[in-house]
Amino acid sequence: MGGSAIPVTVAGGAGTPALVWDAHAPTQKEAPVSTSVPECALNDGTTLPQIGFGTWPLKGADAERAVASALACGYRLIDSAVNYENEEAVGAAVRAAGVPRDEILVATKIPGRFHAHDLAVASVEESLRRMRLDRLDLVLIHWPNPSVGKYVEAWQGLVEARERGLVRSIGVSNFTERHLDDVIAATGVTPVVNQIEMHPAFPQAEMRQVHRRLGIVTQAWSPLGKGATLESPPVAAAARRHGVTGGQVVLRWEIQRGVVPVPKSADPGRQSENLDVFGFALSDAELAAIDALGRPDGRLFDGDPDTHEEM
Ligand SMILES: NC(=O)c1ccc[n+]([C@@H]2O[C@H](COP(=O)([O-])OP(=O)(O)OC[C@H]3O[C@@H](n4cnc5c(N)ncnc54)[C@H](OP(=O)(O)O)[C@@H]3O)[C@@H](O)[C@H]2O)c1
Repeated sequence: MGGSAIPVTVAGGAGTPALVWDAHAPTQKEAPVSTSVPECALNDGTTLPQIGFGTWPLKGADAERAVASALACGYRLIDSAVNYENEEAVGAAVRAAGVPRDEILVATKIPGRFHAHDLAVASVEESLRRMRLDRLDLVLIHWPNPSVGKYVEAWQGLVEARERGLVRSIGVSNFTERHLDDVIAATGVTPVVNQIEMHPAFPQAEMRQVHRRLGIVTQAWSPLGKGATLESPPVAAAARRHGVTGGQVVLRWEIQRGVVPVPKSADPGRQSENLDVFGFALSDAELAAIDALGRPDGRLFDGDPDTHEEM
């Protein structure tokens, strides 16, 4: 991929024009300033909204309420996972939203205990049953779990799930360059996204470079860093200059770095605030000042994909 960051207008899911831009462009100075959420292009020919809604650790009625208000305020990408134990609630909110199903992208993740070809397919089928949906839009391998060593088999299962029409797009989460190279070499299929920890204290410049090389879109989990850097001097200064909040500055920094953040908020006011990040643009100097907050030990917890395991 590569090329211009200038957005182009294409037909959106419901026949309405949508703004599509290239998340792999070398500079995002021209990231669209818009009143609606742009889409970014994926390597399988589909698109993804430039921001999504995170649902962990919401469960049950809380999750259903939060997803309903997120959809009402305009989010169209909902990030769930088998291990969040909220797929029933997410599915119920999606079905009740009054938004055409083909305008909403529902994402989930298969857990480590399903790392085998047939188990990965079964995990997708079980998610569909729990969500009471007839198609998922994005399924990720949640963690590579290298001690188990079966992420390649899990990926082969996701490729089959996609071929069978159970899911539109497939990707991974918390994969390192080696894990990515392994699944691509084994199948010839490149994940559309890799969802990784990213926030100002841990900006993931190297992994974003790897993704650019491979044509993979970076999704950011914990994009607000759970609030840790929202009041740091460069973030606060940019917030004052643009008349926005620290959270909006951090999300905008991610978007201008070509990343799709999935912030979580249970509060409808903060949900709207987090979505309202397309009407201003940070300067190169502001972007660089936020990049400089990064620290090698900036992870929120010891979530190194080479050692952290989740089943
Ligand atoms: N793939 C993975 O391994 C992985 C790992 C972790 C998370 N995730 C995904 O990423 C999503 C987001 O990550 P996260 O929930 O850990 O962290 P986050 O989105 O960075 O932060 C969420 C926290 O920030 C608060 N918040 C939200 N908007 C705010 C704002 N504008 N100003 C101040 N505070 C705000 C929320 O509280 P309120 O709810 O009270 O607003 C919540 O406590 C998760 O929900 C999940 O979907 C994936």
